Amino acid sequence: MFEHVTPYAGDPILGLMDKFANDDRTDIKVNLGVGVYYTEDGKLPVLECVKAAEKQIASPPKARGYLPMDGLPGYRKACQNLLFGRDSDVLKAGRVATIATLGGSGALKVGAEFIHDWFPKATCYVSDPTWGNHIGIFEGSGVEVKKYPYYDAKTIGVKFDELCEFFKNLNENDVVLLHPCCHNPTGVDLTNEQWDTVLEIVKDKKLIPFMDIAYQGFGDDMEGDAYAIRRAVEMGLTVFVSNSFSKNLSLYGERVGGLSVVCPSKEEAEVVQGQLKFIVRRIYSSPASHGNHVVDIVMNNDELFTQWIGEVYEMRDRIRDMRQKLQDTLSAKLPERDFSYFTKQRGMFSFTGLTAEQVVRLREEFAVYMVENGRMCIAGLNNKNVDYVANAIAQVLK
Ligand code: LMR
Repeated sequence: MFEHVTPYAGDPILGLMDKFANDDRTDIKVNLGVGVYYTEDGKLPVLECVKAAEKQIASPPKARGYLPMDGLPGYRKACQNLLFGRDSDVLKAGRVATIATLGGSGALKVGAEFIHDWFPKATCYVSDPTWGNHIGIFEGSGVEVKKYPYYDAKTIGVKFDELCEFFKNLNENDVVLLHPCCHNPTGVDLTNEQWDTVLEIVKDKKLIPFMDIAYQGFGDDMEGDAYAIRRAVEMGLTVFVSNSFSKNLSLYGERVGGLSVVCPSKEEAEVVQGQLKFIVRRIYSSPASHGNHVVDIVMNNDELFTQWIGEVYEMRDRIRDMRQKLQDTLSAKLPERDFSYFTKQRGMFSFTGLTAEQVVRLREEFAVYMVENGRMCIAGLNNKNVDYVANAIAQVLK
C-alpha cells in the first residue's frame, strides 16, 4: 500500500535534536543547533513568572474545556499589546484581527492558508537566506515562494540597495516575509532608517508585509524589537504579524504563538477574524489550553509582566556575554581573522560563515552541533563550554 511513499529526508534543524540526543559523548557534547535558550548550567529554564502562573492554574485545578477557535481573549490582547503597544490607536480602533496559534509555525501556516485563499496570485518572497520552514510552510499551503536578496557574506551585512531595487520590481499584493528583529538564521538586522526606506517601497508598490517575530526581547528590547511593525502600522499599511512565545517565555513545547492582521477598518478586521477562525477550524479546531492560560496570566498581571520582562532581558544579556566571550577567545586564537561579527549580530543566532564540511567536522570530531548552513545558536554556550567550542572552531578553521 505504501510503496509509492517516499522517505522523509529529515529536518535540517529539528533532525539535529535527535542526533544530539543520541550522541553518547555526554561529557563534551554541545548543542548549538536548534534555536533554544539554555541557562548558564546548560538547562532549559522554567521562568519564575511561568511557575507563578502555573501555581494559579493548579490550585484549584482548572477544567480543560475547549478554548475558543481563536484562543483566550486575554491571550489575544497580550499578543496585541506586545506587538503594537498598549495604547496604540490601531488597537483602540479595533482594526487588528488576532488569533492564538500553535506556535509561530502555526501562525505562519494559518497566515499562508489565508494568503492562498484570498490572494491566490500572490508570490511570497523570503529573504535569502531565511528560516527553512518559511519556505516549507508557504509552499505547503500552495503559495509560490521566491527569494529576495538579503545577506551579504562579504560585508556580513545586508545587501540593502539590491533588496530595495528588488522590492521595487514586485507586483501589487505580493507578500514579503520580513524579520522585524533577530533575523533567523543570520542575526543581521535592518537599522531603523533602513526599515523606513523598505516600508516606503512596500507601501508604494502595494506589497503585503508579513512580519515574523519569534525573538521579541532578544535584540534590543520589547519596544525596540517591534519598531518595524509599529512603523508599518503608523504608515497605514495592512500587515500580517506572526509572533511566538516559545523563546521569550521558554514555553517551546506548549506551542504558544499568535497571528495578527492589521486591517483598514474595524469591519474588515471582524471579517478577517472570522476567516482566520474558519481556517483554524479546518486544521485543528482550537488551540491548546495550558499555554494559553499561562500567557494570559503572566501578561495580564502587572507584577508577573514586570518579572517576565526582567527574565527575558537576563536571557538576552547572557547571550550577549557569550557573543563577547566567543569573539574574544577566537580572536586570541586566530588573530589574523576578524570575528567581530559575533557581537554585531543580534538575537540567538550567529551566521558563522563555516562551510557545511566544517560544520560536519565540528559535529563528528568535537560533538559540537550547529546547522549545516553555518548557523550557530549562541544561547547554547556557557562559561563551561565556550572555550571548548572556540577551540573546536579554531581547529576546523586552520
Ligand atoms: C530554530 O530556528 O531553530 C527554531 O525556530 C526552531 C525551529 O522550529 O526550527
